[in-house]
Amino acid sequence: ALERTAFAGRLRAEPDFAPRYVEEILRFEPPVHVTSRRAASDTELLGAPVPAGTRLTLILAAANRDPRRFADPGRFDPDRPDNRPLSFGAGGHFCLGAPLARLEAQIALPRLFARFPRLAATEPPVYRDRWVVRGLDTFAVAVAG
Ligand code: HEM
Repeated sequence: ALERTAFAGRLRAEPDFAPRYVEEILRFEPPVHVTSRRAASDTELLGAPVPAGTRLTLILAAANRDPRRFADPGRFDPDRPDNRPLSFGAGGHFCLGAPLARLEAQIALPRLFARFPRLAATEPPVYRDRWVVRGLDTFAVAVAG
């Protein structure tokens, strides 16, 4: 069975839709799942003591699906209000390339769907066996049909 992206039509019709669409992709499928920090001073996280020097592995992908922050987090919804995923990290080490990465996706995806109006998946995507930088190994699509 062919599965077409449900939002391709909206991307073609509404140029302003691309930023919201890209932001929800970043929340839903963050390419970088994990970052790390070292506690600079004694602190506390969700009630647990974190002494200075503690090394922390922070799962950005889990934060992006936190039901306390994102209503119905398992649903792909570009219209969710106040969608600010942690896909580019936060604080002093926030991704330097975030504006470029966002812009590339906001330009490329509408152009892709405009160029190939019948673009559709022919098989479920296969993910690489990696979780820090997560991504696709294969994703078969048909451009006509
Ligand atoms: C969708 C694409 C990208 C994603 C998901 C991504 C994600 C991330 C994440 C999660 C971090 C760590 C932030 C933290 O720990 O708080 C990071 C750091 C960084 N990213 Fe990206 N990134 C992307 C594209 C890019 C691009 C295109 C560039 C360069 C042109 C770039 C340059 C950097 C640099 C230099 C840092 C280190 C910043 C620092 O340590 O101060 N990234 N990125």
